[in-house]
Amino acid sequence: MNAISPPLPPGVVTLADHETHAASVLDNNAWAYFAGAAADETTLQHNQDAWRALQLKPRVLRRLAGGHTRRSLLGRSLAHPILLAPVAYQRMAHPDGELATALAASAQGAGLVLSTQASLPLEAVARAVREDADRGPLWFQLYLQHDRGFNLELIRRAEAAGYEALVLTVDAPCHGARDRERRARFRLPPGIAAVNLAGLPPRPAQAPGPGQSALFDTLLADAPTWDDVAWLQANTRLPVLLKGILHPDDALEAARLRLDGLIVSNHGGRTLDTALPTAAALPAIAEALEGRLPLLVDGGIRRGTDVLKALALGASAVLVGRPYIFGLANAGALGVAHVIRLLRDELEIAMALCGCRTLDDIGPELLIAPG
Ligand code: FNR
Ligand code: LAC
Repeated sequence: MNAISPPLPPGVVTLADHETHAASVLDNNAWAYFAGAAADETTLQHNQDAWRALQLKPRVLRRLAGGHTRRSLLGRSLAHPILLAPVAYQRMAHPDGELATALAASAQGAGLVLSTQASLPLEAVARAVREDADRGPLWFQLYLQHDRGFNLELIRRAEAAGYEALVLTVDAPCHGARDRERRARFRLPPGIAAVNLAGLPPRPAQAPGPGQSALFDTLLADAPTWDDVAWLQANTRLPVLLKGILHPDDALEAARLRLDGLIVSNHGGRTLDTALPTAAALPAIAEALEGRLPLLVDGGIRRGTDVLKALALGASAVLVGRPYIFGLANAGALGVAHVIRLLRDELEIAMALCGCRTLDDIGPELLIAPG
């Protein structure tokens, strides 16, 4: 940690307040990257709207004494079911970047998923927290690169550093149409880079394709497929989760391949705009899987009631993305810790007011689907 973090801004008491405040802290370039999404940003908005539109049907007069938010996931006991989603280039939000995020996650017992495109070395981030007794799970998000040897080396580095699972992101073979970024002429500032991809050999010159599409003939020529998922499983000792599943048939294929977990996600609306909101995708996936794999979900989770609704629809745990980045921008590690704490406190309140003593008491009978 090298930067002196500002104190928490006064009057910031919700995740939405953190977002509003961060808009005045971040410059246009960083704001376009962190707050923006694809195209018309329909999915970005719908993610939040869909959680809010679900109505709760609470129970009363149930015994609440001794309640807690503990949950077990992939063989570990978590203090609560909130994890931090992988978000790239965090030093653009605050000089301490991913290190501040990791320390805050650890202090608050939240799981952390470090992005392949982190702006600090994956070893330094793991080293800062891996011995902490009360930290949550420490996972590494993988974007497979065009070079298998490089991928193997990256996997070995993550294993050696102490990461406990690999999260393969499958919904972004290319970026969405990032119109907001293009309007802002977004560029990575000097000194900020995907440092864990240093040394990636250049993409070999492709054999000339049909020549009709630069995108399909270059970047997508070696985009990951189900064969690469099997390759990854065969080449790591760590559990593998897929992130970016929206279709029940893909979830079933993942179950057939014996993946260790799935993250229902539309990348926070940053890839395919008008993809369905995750609150709408989750129930069909949970139904198809019948509990065969742990399910997590992200996208638009901003309130403790949203977390409770996600669990009611079949998720074991949730991830948040932008809100903690806004906390990071506002107050460094303290801001990230504040965001996690707010969400966890709100979850406890929502549980109590729905008559739920533990997470296992949260079920679909607490919800009315929007009419
Ligand atoms: C992301 N996300 C993401 N996902 C991933 O697998 N690898 C990555 O490097 C990134 N990078 C990234 C950058 C930024 C700025 C954002 C906002 C998001 C997606 C992220 O993990 C998560 O799916 C969404 O952010 C969840 O939606 P909310 O909580 O931001 O609404
Ligand atoms: C993004 C990539 C890094 O959403 O996943 O910006």
